[in-house]
Amino acid sequence: MQRSRILGLGTSVPDRVITNGDLTHWMDTSHEWIVERTGIEERRWVKEGELGSEMAAAASREAMEEAGVGPKDIDLVVYATLSPDFEFPGNGVFVQRILGIPQVAVLDIRQQCSGFIYAMAIADNFIRTGMARTALVIGSEVQSRGMDLSTVGRNISSLFGDGAGAAVLGVAEDESRCVLSSHLHADGTEAEILCLEYPGWKSFPRITPEDLRGGKHHAVMEGRKVFKHAVTRMPEVILEALDANGMTLEDLDMIIPHQANLRINEAVAKGLGIPPEKMHNNIGKYGNTTAASIPLCLKEAVELGKIQPGDLVVLAAFGAGLTWGSVLLRY
Ligand code: UT7
Repeated sequence: MQRSRILGLGTSVPDRVITNGDLTHWMDTSHEWIVERTGIEERRWVKEGELGSEMAAAASREAMEEAGVGPKDIDLVVYATLSPDFEFPGNGVFVQRILGIPQVAVLDIRQQCSGFIYAMAIADNFIRTGMARTALVIGSEVQSRGMDLSTVGRNISSLFGDGAGAAVLGVAEDESRCVLSSHLHADGTEAEILCLEYPGWKSFPRITPEDLRGGKHHAVMEGRKVFKHAVTRMPEVILEALDANGMTLEDLDMIIPHQANLRINEAVAKGLGIPPEKMHNNIGKYGNTTAASIPLCLKEAVELGKIQPGDLVVLAAFGAGLTWGSVLLRY
């Protein structure tokens, strides 16, 4: 069975920087509180008129250039986002249209903060089975338009940022640089601890003026519960990936974790007993960009020379659903 590998990576973030100090104009918070609890110093938010699909296209162009492929070479698009431009169709077809990708399979998935991991796993399996040869995998989010910027929503709106990342996956020549395995999980038992309920499809009309006045169109989160799940599930799924390949933490060169909260990732590193230099974080600059966080972090680590060709890298994420997963690869 053939394996896939990352041929190119691309990223795109809005120019508009929002510092913790800027947030204090809208809500009762402070730079100190946010940095101490999350490690976030600033994030990027879109300006009026900027679209998630366009950020995704910019990231994809960069990834395709690095991969040395053009739009006509792409035979699968997997687009992960919880913040599409339209309710339907999903953003996959918009990015296809912008880039001039031919009439190939286009999949839209959500899976929230685990979105990029799920998208990579899908693309990898299409390539393994021969259904695709060159897949474009995208994670792109516009979180800033869905948040409650008042003090009521501060536990969420101080965390999230906008951005996009993309990877081109192609057929690996050999096992020195390839995706080794992916491990996906979900548990809906506590789905409501991080959710955005309205406008859903379970009531008519889908949202009322009272719902809007009550802020039902904003995401809600029981942060402490989510935190506890994250610090358990992320190490679990990293070890699962290593076990499945007969490897140990000693073999690992780098962990690229989802960027939800620096304190979560520090707890994960501590729990696993790995030194800080074996994990890359960039949440300080971008906040939590949900499906975009892994490619934003991975590309930065590569650019900084922290990841070299052939290095053993694990990508791991945890998010709403609850969903979690990992991808183990030789970069
Ligand atoms: O991407 C995956 C999904 N998300 C996550 O993984 C996030 C996981 N959770 C977290 O990162 C943390 O729980 C938070 C950073 C969201 C919150 O930190 P915490 O230490 O768990 O605080 P808390 O939610 O228990 O709230 C403690 C206090 C509350 O005030 P009261 O009720 O004690 O008066 C909050 O209202 O901190 C308050 N608070 C804030 N204060 C200033 C919450 N957000 C803020 C804020 N600034 N931005």
